[in-house]
Amino acid sequence: MTLFDVYPLNDITIVKAQGSYVWDDNGVQYLDMYGGHAVISIGHTHPHWVKRIEDQLNKIAFYSNSVHIPLQQELAAKLGKISGKEDYQLFLLSSGAEATENALKLASFHNGKKKIVAFSKSFHGRTSLAVAVTDNPNIVAPVNETDNVIFCPFNDEKALEKIFAEHGGEISSVIIEGIQGVGGINVADEKFLQLIRSLCDKYNAVYIADSVQCGYGRSGQFFSHDYAGVNADIYTMAKGMGNGFPVAGILIAPHIKPKHGMLGTTFGGNQLACAAALAVLEVIEEENLIEMAKQRGMYIKNRLKSIEGIENIRGRGLMIGFDVPAELKDLRKKLLYDFNVFTGEAKPNVIRLLPSLAISKKQTDEFLDALQEAIEEIKNQKAVTA
Ligand SMILES: Cc1ncc(COP(=O)(O)O)c(C=O)c1O
Repeated sequence: MTLFDVYPLNDITIVKAQGSYVWDDNGVQYLDMYGGHAVISIGHTHPHWVKRIEDQLNKIAFYSNSVHIPLQQELAAKLGKISGKEDYQLFLLSSGAEATENALKLASFHNGKKKIVAFSKSFHGRTSLAVAVTDNPNIVAPVNETDNVIFCPFNDEKALEKIFAEHGGEISSVIIEGIQGVGGINVADEKFLQLIRSLCDKYNAVYIADSVQCGYGRSGQFFSHDYAGVNADIYTMAKGMGNGFPVAGILIAPHIKPKHGMLGTTFGGNQLACAAALAVLEVIEEENLIEMAKQRGMYIKNRLKSIEGIENIRGRGLMIGFDVPAELKDLRKKLLYDFNVFTGEAKPNVIRLLPSLAISKKQTDEFLDALQEAIEEIKNQKAVTA
């Protein structure tokens, strides 16, 4: 049997990881500024996380949601405390797309309406409704096409007001990333998020804060939407929530009421997933990682500004992007193969930085020095061949 070949791969096999480093099968060490796609929040193989999972494995890994699972309650309490959303309700899932899907579905159950407002350059996942609210026709199959989604230009207040003026009575929810990830690190304006809040209040629509990539402390606040000083009705979470263990969830405001049978999942909230998620929150708290993300992010952005050749440095905390001009188009590859640094990308020319929130100052310097040298080498090579 062969694997279904959908991923363009780097020719590298990672076999070991610790903190902000990973190693390949030849023993080569790489600095991980990509966090396996924003997943590594507390650092690879963090000893507390490993021990929590190991201990849980020796007790029970899985039993279904047909019995009490006190670890879920423990996780909800801890999440409420650290996120500041103590009066919210938690529903546990296993992936980001599933979180999107359930958030949109729950909103529609709640207000009985069908239309969803989503934004240009959005990414919310690849399952049916999740991909329908994603602004990328290449990954939407005919069966996913729907008239229920209205796309609005990102951060365009006038356009959003017009959509609500025309369709307000039909709009069930508005879904927005606080910082767009796949779309290229675009920060939602605080005023724009405040407008979403007030329009949702006015028209009885649900404000869904997709926090799968920009949440869980990465932005320097627990949710990047918190910068706007407004509460969303539903927050989606995944990626950093398990530090690599597949666990996801939605936080639901108290006015949205549950009903037995309304939502459900086999794997969501199993004992092992809860143990992993609790370990992550314990480390975030113990190591003050939300504040660390803010500080390290500011430091990286400041130093990036002094590096010639890259443009439009943006983002918050440890979710940073910059544009790479055409003459440096091989920069990301060079960083990976010549300097052994993993970074993320966004099409067509954005480098994304999504390291562990526990990255050290020394490691950020290691990255910034490598970046500077890589740019100089490309420029020098160009000068020699010109
Ligand atoms: C903002 C956002 N939402 C949802 C998803 C989907 O998450 P998953 O790949 O876990 O289904 C992603 C994944 O990259 C994402 O970045």
